Amino acid sequence: MIEAKGVCLTYPDGTTALNNIDMNIKPGQLVYITGPSGSGKTSLLKLFMGVEYPTDGTMKVLGQYIERGNADSIRGLRRKIGPVFQDFRLVKGRTAMENVLLGMRFLDIAPGQLKENAANALSKVGLEHKMKSLVENLSWGETQRVAIARAVARKPLLILADEPTGNLDKDNALRILELLNSFRDSNTAVVITTHATHLIEKDQSAVHIRMLSGSMNMERQGMA
Ligand SMILES: Nc1ncnc2c1ncn2[C@@H]1O[C@H](COP(=O)(O)OP(=O)(O)OP(=O)(O)O)[C@@H](O)[C@H]1O
Ligand SMILES: [Mg+2]
Repeated sequence: MIEAKGVCLTYPDGTTALNNIDMNIKPGQLVYITGPSGSGKTSLLKLFMGVEYPTDGTMKVLGQYIERGNADSIRGLRRKIGPVFQDFRLVKGRTAMENVLLGMRFLDIAPGQLKENAANALSKVGLEHKMKSLVENLSWGETQRVAIARAVARKPLLILADEPTGNLDKDNALRILELLNSFRDSNTAVVITTHATHLIEKDQSAVHIRMLSGSMNMERQGMA
């Protein structure tokens, strides 16, 4: 579902974030992307979503080439992706439920079904009791779970989570990884960037992609 061949990304200021990346991610896989700060993990997720385009090489996500001039199809592609941003990007002044519903705009879901799907997603992340709370009144961990609910309520084929373990202690980090992984199925891949290499290195069920410092290269292991 994600194929990259010789992908490079050089930003307009001349910074090369990704250099000659090859990868092949298949439906149903759990993929961890690790690597030091600045090694290009977020940049890679931006390419997956068509927020940036490769400056060299080719990238195909869910059958769609990520390239300039493809704006309509890239909008279509984004409907199949559930992103969990590092800073969550929830809308203040709205409840948890409203935020999840906002994430479902423009999707092909029958209006009568929207609330039910949103409520299901919020209960799956353990927030059935907080649906009507304003997001600014939630704890950090609860806010993160609203962001996950918003992503998965879209019933995406690709879940992308950028540093979901960032602010968490070991037990909570493991819980969040498990929660994200619970949304994986035979059609849906879950891609997670994380600094917490010590938590994931023994996970044999996952594909590990290690971005190297300076992003001049990349190592892979554990193709599931
Ligand atoms: N919009 C941009 N313009 C110029 N350079 C950028 C831009 N975004 C990122 N970079 C640079 O690209 C490189 C990769 O950044 P990226 O954010 O992908 O790293 P990362 O692996 O996600 O790091 P972190 O672990 O700190 O989140 C860095 O050198 C960064 O400064
Ligand atoms: Mg990052």
